[in-house]
This record gives sequence, structure tokens and C-alpha cells, in this order.
Amino acid sequence: MSTSKVAVIVGSLRRESYTRKIARCLIECAPATLQMEFVEIGELPLYNQDFDDEKRPPAEWTKFRDRVNDMHAVLFATAEYNRSVPGVLKNAIDVGSRPYGKSVWNGKPCAVVSVSPGAIGGFGANHHLRQSLVFLNMPALQHEAYVGGVDKLLAPDGSIAKPETREFLAKLMTKFAAWVERNTQVQTGGVQQSGSI
Ligand code: FNR
Repeated sequence: MSTSKVAVIVGSLRRESYTRKIARCLIECAPATLQMEFVEIGELPLYNQDFDDEKRPPAEWTKFRDRVNDMHAVLFATAEYNRSVPGVLKNAIDVGSRPYGKSVWNGKPCAVVSVSPGAIGGFGANHHLRQSLVFLNMPALQHEAYVGGVDKLLAPDGSIAKPETREFLAKLMTKFAAWVERNTQVQTGGVQQSGSI
């Protein structure tokens, strides 16, 4: 099995974010074939098409696009705001998707984990995000991962308090590793992507 670089993108900027804590656990649980790296989205200026049309994208956009371009796969861990994804995550998706025909997401395998203290585990955010992933041509792992009641799952140090939760996350990452392996074709000098949108 080859090693794949995975961007871990967190849909929450909150300092004590439960979602980021779960993302850290997912990184810990990941098989060695996945090289997981947080890619931050909090500093990205709001998407404005004028900057691309006038070929003067903000430096933060360019850095982000280059960073994601260098990855083989993406793990989205997201909070839920008003039954959808937080705006900061939607903005990152929009920034990465343009200029037209140069989407950094295109063809990259991905997985979605939604996190909430609520009982339905961010189901709305999870599925709204999946709608964008279809448009972006990102093969998304079908295995569902809704982490509900998260405030009761974590120990004070941010680790997972319940062994069965850790087991669930570890199984998810094993499935994701196989999914990435199946859906990524690595070429010398970069990642092969199919088509463009
Ligand atoms: C929320 N929260 C929330 N929770 C939920 O389960 N469904 C929802 O639709 C919403 N909507 C929502 C909107 C806004 C603007 C905020 C600030 C919060 C609560 C949310 O799950 C909670 O604040 C989590 O702690 C956010 O995740 P992080 O930041 O801990 O990762």
C-alpha cells in the first residue's frame, strides 16, 4: 500500500471546538498509510469572484489552493450550524473550487464526519456537505459518521472517554484508508485527477 497525504479540514473555528478534538482523535486512529495534516481555513478571505476574474487572488487563497492541490485526499470534520455547514467551511470549499476548471477538489477521495452535542450528530451539515461534494466530483466514502452527544464523549484533556467511540472512529479511518487507496492514482510529480469543473 502506498502512503497518501490527507488534508484534514475542520468546519469550526472555536478555540475549544469539539469537532477539532474529534478530528485529532481521527488522526490518532488513522492507519499508517494515511499521512494526515490539518489544513486551516480560518484566515481565508470571503470568496469574491472578482479577485479570480481579475487574476489577483488573495495570497491566503493561493496558499490554500496550493496546499490542497498537494494532497491526495480530504477528511472533512464539521460542526453543524443551522442544519448546514458553518459558513467558514463553505467559504473554503468555494475558494478551493475556483478559478473555473482549476478546482483543487476535483477527483479527490474524501470522507465526512459531522459532530454535535445534539442527538442527531450534525446530520444536516453532513448531508449538505455531501451535496457540494457531488458537484465537486469528490468520491465520498458512503460510510456514515455522525458524532452526536460529543460533549459527553470527550475526557477533559480532549481524548475520547469511551472505548466504543474510539473503536468506531478507528473503523471509519480503516475504511477511509481503503477508499483512498482505491480512488487515488498517484503519478510521479503529482496527483492524477480526472476531468475538471
Ligand atoms: C449551533 N449549534 C447547532 N447544533 C446542532 O446540532 N445543529 C444546529 O443546527 C446548530 N446550529 C448552530 C448555529 C450556530 C450559529 C451555533 C454557534 C451553534 C450548536 C453547535 O453544535 C455547538 O455550538 C458546537 O459546539 C459547535 O461545534 P464546535 O465548535 O464545538 O466544533
